[in-house]
Amino acid sequence: MSSTLVTGIAELVTWDDEQPVRTDAALVVEGDRIAWTGPAHAAPATDTAVDVGGRAVLPGWVDSHSHLVFAGDRAAEFEARMTGTPYAAGGIRTTVAATRAATDEQLTSRVAALVAEMRRQGTTTVEIKSGYGLTVRDEARSLAIARQFTQETTFLGAHVVPAGPDGSPGDPAAYVELVTGPMLAAAAPHARWIDAFCEEGAFDADQARAVLAAGAAVGLRGRLHANQLTYGDGVLLACELGLTAVDHCTYLTDADVAALADSGTVATLLPGVEFSTRQPYPDARRLLDAGVRVALASDCNPGSSFTSSLPFCVALAVREMGMTPAEAVHAATAGGADALDRDDVGRLTVGARADLVVLDAPSHRHLAYRPGVPLVSATWVGGRPVT
Ligand code: NIG
Ligand code: FE
Repeated sequence: MSSTLVTGIAELVTWDDEQPVRTDAALVVEGDRIAWTGPAHAAPATDTAVDVGGRAVLPGWVDSHSHLVFAGDRAAEFEARMTGTPYAAGGIRTTVAATRAATDEQLTSRVAALVAEMRRQGTTTVEIKSGYGLTVRDEARSLAIARQFTQETTFLGAHVVPAGPDGSPGDPAAYVELVTGPMLAAAAPHARWIDAFCEEGAFDADQARAVLAAGAAVGLRGRLHANQLTYGDGVLLACELGLTAVDHCTYLTDADVAALADSGTVATLLPGVEFSTRQPYPDARRLLDAGVRVALASDCNPGSSFTSSLPFCVALAVREMGMTPAEAVHAATAGGADALDRDDVGRLTVGARADLVVLDAPSHRHLAYRPGVPLVSATWVGGRPVT
């Protein structure tokens, strides 16, 4: 196996216990893994070397929450929100109609384009949900398409109750039966996770519990959308069930925060949503101070957050949510890995995958200090540059 020494690293973020962030560093890649990290002067001999010219090197972003399988967009809905129209879960149905009408090829090339966009911005692991099909056929094909791009696929049949064929409101109880029965059976072979949107206008805690239980019975691990638009029971449900992650966490009571800290369930914060819906940002400081494990993700979707950029989310988290730059970068890398129960990504420790970002800047701080500037100069996946 050939080894490569990466030199000229002004700042190396590894998240290893000994020295999580070090200056004047080097790292060695062997095959697709990290083989060594340390001070530049102590680097071992290797087959080849690459000089990154005084740039910072970080773990690649682990984007643990996205909805990339869809057609169309909702730019007009976004524009209306900016002048005061509130966000509502029902907007999802607009995208469902467009997605059902699209061909597999159209959906696949859209996902490919979005994944490429993510790569250029430093994302090296991405989770992708279904949830804009909401029929047995459309959920199964959404997941089959997502699987072409990632192993981290999530069945989100319980995104919203679709309208009936004549446009009448759908029957929630009958729809939950479909999701937990034939739709789950068709989706499960293509999915690792199961999710539900536990929120007013979508599904209540009992319905979410039924969906998660049915998924668990066929081996899918649970995660949940909760407490996005208002206070609710979703976060407590996620903690009670010991889910790996609960996502949004914008409206939290003290009891919710205590339950998150006790359970170890990762709170995934999605500031692109609050930016794009004009909602208040979640209070990351409160969660971190309480000892909650926190992740940051894009929630890339055409309704509530049409950004694929983790650098943008990091900048928002620092400016609006009380995180230090290091905490925000940690949440978008190691935190995302925790939210996907992965120990091979999100950290540049020995044995981890050599998935990394080279910044056109000397420090991770510049991600928030220079908002909106495309600072990712290269993304490496499995030990090789891919951008
Ligand atoms: O995570 N909250 C539920 N689902 C998406 C929004 C979907 C949409 O509006 O199309 C979210 O924000
Ligand atoms: Fe989402």
